[in-house]
Amino acid sequence: RAGARILAFGAHQPATVVSNDDLATRLDTSDDWIRSRVGIAERRIAGPEEGIVDMAVEAGGKALARSGLSPAEIDLVIVATCSAESPMPAHAPTVAHRLGIEAPGAFDLNAACAGFCYALGTADGLVRSGTTGSALVIGAEKMSQWVDPDDRSTAVIFADGAGAAVVTGADEPGIGPTVWGSLGSHADKLMIGSRASYLAQDGQAVFRWATSAIAPVALDACRRAGVDPAELAAVVPHQANLRIIRAIARAIGAANAVVAEDIVTAGNTSAASVPLAVSRLLDRHEVAPGAPALLVGFGAGLAYAAQVVRL
Ligand code: ACO
Repeated sequence: RAGARILAFGAHQPATVVSNDDLATRLDTSDDWIRSRVGIAERRIAGPEEGIVDMAVEAGGKALARSGLSPAEIDLVIVATCSAESPMPAHAPTVAHRLGIEAPGAFDLNAACAGFCYALGTADGLVRSGTTGSALVIGAEKMSQWVDPDDRSTAVIFADGAGAAVVTGADEPGIGPTVWGSLGSHADKLMIGSRASYLAQDGQAVFRWATSAIAPVALDACRRAGVDPAELAAVVPHQANLRIIRAIARAIGAANAVVAEDIVTAGNTSAASVPLAVSRLLDRHEVAPGAPALLVGFGAGLAYAAQVVRL
């Protein structure tokens, strides 16, 4: 096929809302500190009964239903996650089975917070090569299980959720070239160690990198898609920190775009944050289906990826 396009998005968040004031009852923090430094007002946290597969099935099922495709038409399932509950099996085959998708290619992909953009770029390439007919691409995270609940520097930031997109072949390309990369020399800046240890990050180093290195990648994705930033209807950066989101948006200079600020109520859900944010923009009619949007992922690795898509 000449190209691939996105047919539909779907999202799922756990029911439990944890406010900043809730956290301040057991941590030495405050609503004011979290809002001003990170931009989060509340986040969703999954209970013990809800795992990555459950959230991925919910989000994936909604995207599939909206796409108009039947499970039989999907032959690839990718689950982007960096908070896997166990090293194997991958989550994707179980997610596919629970959605009634029989015998698809199915694997997990770990590019941390860039995971959804990496997975979308992978699905795009596989559809265009003819390997895949239609793909279900999911970002699903249960970050809460890897965050020390007593560490105020991380417990206030990370959260749980899942978002998904259905990708299929198209004569008119709806997914622009993916610009991606990584910086392994800085892999120690953000990591989850062995199963016994919690997420650890050098917040200031990640902040500096994200606010300086990511906008040029995003602009390169626009250039390679042949889209002027002024034509963008939406800019959807990974929801790491409101200050980072606004710095990236400022540097891109997309004057006519709505900038996703889903972090305010969703927290940092790593690979789930971009499709969750897109879903909210679409559900609230802040952007129209088919509108051009810039997706930007960045995080541990340090991995990054960006592409312009038609929503
Ligand atoms: N409440 C109150 N005070 C706090 C909290 C808290 N929750 N957390 C830290 N502090 C304190 C610190 O102890 C420090 O106190 P001190 O001055 O007495 O030493 C002070 O606040 C300032 O701490 P900094 O770390 O300098 O705060 P900063 O403004 O850098 O914000 C943050 C920290 C939010 C982590 C920021 O650096 C950031 O967002 N970095 C990017 C991290 C990121 O995006 N990570 C995810 C990438 S996605 C992925 O791949 C998973």
